[in-house]
Amino acid sequence: MRDFDETNITDAVVESFSGTPDPRLRQVVTSLVHHLHDFIRDVDLTFDEWSTAIDFLTRTGHMCTGTRQEFILLSDVLGASMLVDAINHRMPGSATQTTVLGPFFVEDAPVYPLGADISGRMTGEPLFVTGSVHSEDGRPLAGAAIDVWHADDGGFYDVQQIEKLGGLAGRARFYADERGDFHFWSIVPKFYPIPDDGPVGQLLNATGRHPNRPAHVHFLIAAPGHETLVTHVFAADSEWLDSDAVFGVKNTLIAEFAHRPAGVAKDGQKAEQPYRHLDYHFGLKASAEGASSSGPRATIRLPA
Ligand code: BEZ
Ligand code: FE
Repeated sequence: MRDFDETNITDAVVESFSGTPDPRLRQVVTSLVHHLHDFIRDVDLTFDEWSTAIDFLTRTGHMCTGTRQEFILLSDVLGASMLVDAINHRMPGSATQTTVLGPFFVEDAPVYPLGADISGRMTGEPLFVTGSVHSEDGRPLAGAAIDVWHADDGGFYDVQQIEKLGGLAGRARFYADERGDFHFWSIVPKFYPIPDDGPVGQLLNATGRHPNRPAHVHFLIAAPGHETLVTHVFAADSEWLDSDAVFGVKNTLIAEFAHRPAGVAKDGQKAEQPYRHLDYHFGLKASAEGASSSGPRATIRLPA
């Protein structure tokens, strides 16, 4: 193994991994070497560019903390997260489509009773959310665990302004009732930029891309015997629906946040001012092995 040049080094590196005991690891690393070498040859990579790439990845790593995962953000803006999601959720039928988890999910969000207002000290137009959770065959999934989280009217999540808000807000866990239904109150979220003060933001800037995501409410829904659904519902009147920075928008996930006048809402609660109403029905795919399975998780750790 010597005298390598640009025509024979790829085969030599692939061969060096040929004894990998795990066949899947061997397949992945072999393909990685082929694609990486083809990419380097394709662009005729210079030493300066190689060095810039190493520096970029080093800074991306240094940006990561317990509450910031810059590598996932990089994966998001490169469309890799949504590609992995698409490959792993090839689901026909009436199951709800999936999208990225994002960095603002919090494990063990506070449990609220159905009908609660979860906006806390967040400000914004009132939002009434109603919906249901059912299996692909239309059976209501009573007791399904529904995690919701969203930004405020300035485009900030609670975890980005925890001191100002005095705690979590615009997030909760609910359990669907015996008909699989749920409802709650909050405020209408605004579109927002993904965290762009690090290397990923510099990449977007250098390539003339904006960092914005259209307004949305996140849902993570789990029920025994079903794949955990990780998705959002996007506001139909939001900016940026056609250029989401992380490529997460799907037509079936866009819904009207309908304007309603002040008065008694469907749940019997009196709205003192006009409000918006989002009604969305979620379908969960039965898990292959009949057991509850988990979707992607990248847990945020709250500052003590
Ligand atoms: C989010 O929707 O919370 C999000 C998703 C991907 C990157 C940044 C934020
Ligand atoms: Fe979000």
